[in-house]
Formats: sequence, structure tokens, C-alpha cells
Amino acid sequence: MSTGAAAIEVRGLAHRYHGAEGALQALDRIDLSVADGEFVSLVGPSGCGKTTLLRAIGGLLRVETGEVQVLGVDPEEAQQRRLFGLVSQEPGLLPWRSVEANVRLPLEVTGAAADVRALLTRVGIGEFARYAPRQLSGGMRQRVALARALVHGPRVLLMDEPFGALDELSREAMRLELLRLWESERITVLFVTHSIREAVLLSDRVVVMAPRPGRILDDLRVPLPRPRTDALEETPEFAALVTRIRAVLREAQ
Ligand SMILES: Nc1ncnc2c1ncn2[C@@H]1O[C@H](COP(=O)(O)OP(=O)(O)O)[C@@H](O)[C@H]1O
Ligand SMILES: [Mg+2]
Repeated sequence: MSTGAAAIEVRGLAHRYHGAEGALQALDRIDLSVADGEFVSLVGPSGCGKTTLLRAIGGLLRVETGEVQVLGVDPEEAQQRRLFGLVSQEPGLLPWRSVEANVRLPLEVTGAAADVRALLTRVGIGEFARYAPRQLSGGMRQRVALARALVHGPRVLLMDEPFGALDELSREAMRLELLRLWESERITVLFVTHSIREAVLLSDRVVVMAPRPGRILDDLRVPLPRPRTDALEETPEFAALVTRIRAVLREAQ
């Protein structure tokens, strides 16, 4: 891939939705740059435009104003070249297809090849290849969604509250699994979450957003050592970062 270019580059992005009650400024003056291999989280209250921003970067939304580039090309081209994978809160699996067949689906569209079994093993569900989605727990279904997002070997992973529908224990397990995966593969991750603690635990940087209009309030570096484990959550450095981000969010209200 083109070296030197940021993995994600957003410049002067603004977007309004037009509805019956008039226009809603979902995003305003968004500048964001994510380096290759970086793990960046977006946090902020519901409605601050996190999903809109992710959709704009993923080429699912044509923005009104501004510029978005993924690895030096526009989102549509990045989409065509399968440069990114997308994981959202709902796994969106086809119920009549097995785990393996769900993960294989994008390959059937592009005609590309991948070792799906190895991929399932990498995300911790190697033994469940032949299961139907309904036979899996919520956490396991999200692993299937993650494997599907990784099937074309993307350089960028866009994750929109991927663990938002999981119970707390599954969520903790998934965080650590994602960390392990990212630490071994160093793909670029842009991760949306409501949870400040989750953002701090995972990220190199936490981008804090506020609503009406959706905007970036702050962009904080997380200088905590890696590899990270949940033991980090007990440290004063971790607590200090969480407190700082809370303060930024409170000021905006
Ligand atoms: N398709 C849409 N049409 C109209 N308004 C929308 C649409 N999608 C989102 N919005 C509005 O835009 C704002 C930002 O939404 P969203 O990006 O989903 O925020 P978040 O993901 O941070 O909760 C919200 O006020 C939401 O109601
Ligand atoms: Mg959202």
C-alpha cells in the first residue's frame, strides 16, 4: 500500500441530514487523521455523530462538505479495493448459513480466496465453523462478524460499538481478544464506543465528541504501555485519563 499516507484522513467534514423538521447538523468541521497501524477510539454521547463519521469514512454516506481519504484514496475506491472491514453492533449474519459460510460470503462476491478456517481460529471460533448463528452466544456471533470483516485482509477496521450489545463479561473477553489481534497484526482501527474505560484500555488516542452540532472536543493521547491487560484498569494513570475525558464531556453539556 502507498506508504506515507495516513490510514484515515478527514478534512473539514460537515454533514446535515434533511428531515421533515428541517436540517440537522450531524457533523461540523471534523478534522481527523489516523496513522497507519494506530488504534483510535471515538467516544461521546448518543447523537454526536459517531456513526455518521464512520459511515462517511466507510463510503456508506456521501458527505456534503469536506474530504475523506482512506490510505490515500477516496472511500468509494477504498471500498472497491476492500481496504477496510466494518463491524457494527449487530452481527448481521444470515441465519440459514453456517458460521463458515457467513464468513465466506464476501469472498463469493469478489471471487477472492482466503483461508476461512484459519481466520475462524484466529478469532477464537475455530471449532464452530459448521454451527448456525442461532447456536452461538452474542459474543461468538460478534467474532463471526469480525472474521467476516477481516476476510479480505483489510488494512483498516471500522468498528461501530461492536461490543455494545454484549453482556459485561463477554465484552471484557472481546476487548482483550481484539487487543491481541491488533497487537499481532497492527491494522488500523477506528473504534466507536460509549464506554470511556473501553476506549482508554484499547486506544493510542481517544477522540472525544459532542452533539448539536456533532464535533470533536478533544483528542487525547493514551501513553499507557502495551501490551495491555485488564490489570491496567486498576492503575492511577488509567483512572486519571478516564477522569480527564469525563471532564471534557461534562464541560460540553
Ligand atoms: N439517516 C438519518 N436521517 C436523519 N437524521 C439522522 C440519520 N442518521 C442519524 N441522524 C441524526 O444525526 C445525529 C447523529 O447521529 P449518529 O451519527 O447516529 O450519532 P451517534 O452514532 O453518535 O449516536 C443524530 O441527531 C441522529 O438523530
Ligand atoms: Mg451510533
